Amino acid sequence: MATEIVGKKACVVGGTGFVASLLVKLLLEKGYAVNTTVRDPDNHKKISHLTVLKDLGDLNIFRADLTDEASFDAPIEGCDVVFHVATPVNFASEDPENDMIKPAIQGVFNVLKASAKAKSVKRVVLTSSAAAVSINTLSGTGLVMNEDNWTDVEFLYSEKPPTWGYPASKTLAEKAAWKFAQENNIDLITVIPTLMTGPSLTPDVPDSICLATALLTGNEFLIGALKGMQMLSGSISITHVEDVCRAHVFLAEKESASGRYICCAVNTSVPELAKFLNKRYPQFKVPTDFGDFPSKAKLIISAEKLVKEGFSFKYGIEEVYDQTVEYCKAKGLLKN
Ligand SMILES: NC(=O)c1ccc[n+]([C@@H]2O[C@H](COP(=O)([O-])OP(=O)(O)OC[C@H]3O[C@@H](n4cnc5c(N)ncnc54)[C@H](OP(=O)(O)O)[C@@H]3O)[C@@H](O)[C@H]2O)c1
Repeated sequence: MATEIVGKKACVVGGTGFVASLLVKLLLEKGYAVNTTVRDPDNHKKISHLTVLKDLGDLNIFRADLTDEASFDAPIEGCDVVFHVATPVNFASEDPENDMIKPAIQGVFNVLKASAKAKSVKRVVLTSSAAAVSINTLSGTGLVMNEDNWTDVEFLYSEKPPTWGYPASKTLAEKAAWKFAQENNIDLITVIPTLMTGPSLTPDVPDSICLATALLTGNEFLIGALKGMQMLSGSISITHVEDVCRAHVFLAEKESASGRYICCAVNTSVPELAKFLNKRYPQFKVPTDFGDFPSKAKLIISAEKLVKEGFSFKYGIEEVYDQTVEYCKAKGLLKN
C-alpha cells in the first residue's frame, strides 16, 4: 500500500461513538467523502447526530458489526483510508474475555482483512488507547511512557484489577493489528489517545466526559474511578477530543508517518487536577483534600513523537475544561 491519500474517500468504523462522530464531521468539513459503519442504522435516535452531518457533504451510513467479517466489504470498498475507531466497551462486564477482548481482536482482523481486499485502501488508522501503553508494575514517580511501552497484559490477567478487561482488550487488539498488518503488507498507523473530553455530538453524554468531570459534578463513584485510573494507569492524562480527531486525520495524510503515536495534551494526578478545577471554577466547590492518596502521578505519557512529526495541539487544560464545563451546563450535568 502506498501512503498518499488521493481521492479522499474515508471509511470510519463505528460512526455513532464520541470520537468517531466528531471524526466524521472533521473529514466531511475537509472535503472527504465518508462511509461510516454503525451496528443498527434503523435506530434513528442513536444515529441522529450522524444523519444531520449529511448536510456537510457526501456521507453514507452502512450496517456493520465487528464480529461479522463480510459486513465491512461494502463500506470499505473504494476508500483511500480506513479509520478503525470502534471498540466494545463494557466496564461492568463479568465476562471481559467474551464481551470485550475477543470481539475487539476479531474486529481488528475483520476490518484489516476487508481493507487488504479493497485494493483502494492506502492506509489504515487504528484508534488504540493509553490503556495499551502505561499499565505496568514499575514504581516511583517521574517515569516517561512513549511508543516503545506496552501495557503488561500478564499482570492484568493474573491480578485482574477492576476494569482490567478494557486495557487487556486494547493492548491485545493493537498487538494483533500490528502482526496482521506486517504479515499482509498493510500501511497501519495507531493513534494512542488518553482520556478524552470536550463537547460531544452524541445524543447522550459520553462516559469519558462523565469521568473527566467527576470532580466537578461530585459523583463519588466516578471520583473513585478516577482515583482507580491514576493507581492502575499511573496518571490522569487528558486530551481534547477534537485534537485526537485532528491527529487521526493528520497521521492519515502525513506520508512520513509510521508506527504508533501517543496523543496526549496534559498529564496530571487527581489531587493536582482537583486543585486546578477548584481554582478555575470555585462555584463547583471541588474538594482538594485527598488524605494520603498520592499527590503526584507515577508517570507521564509523552506525545513527543506526534509533535516532532509536525502536529500541534489546539487545546491545553484550560480550554479543555472551559469547553467541557460549557457543554456539561448545556446538557444539564452541571448546574451553575
Ligand atoms: N473516550 C476516551 O476517553 C478514550 C480514551 C482512549 C482511547 N479511546 C478509544 O477511542 C475509540 C472510541 O472511543 P469512544 O469514547 O468514542 O467510544 P464510544 O463512544 O463508546 O463508541 C464506541 C463505538 O464502538 C462501537 N462498537 C462497540 N461494539 C461494536 C461491535 N461489536 N461492532 C461494531 N461497533 C461496535 C459502538 O457502536 P454502537 O453505537 O453500535 O454501540 C460505538 O460507535 C475506542 O477505540 C476507544 O478505545 C477512547
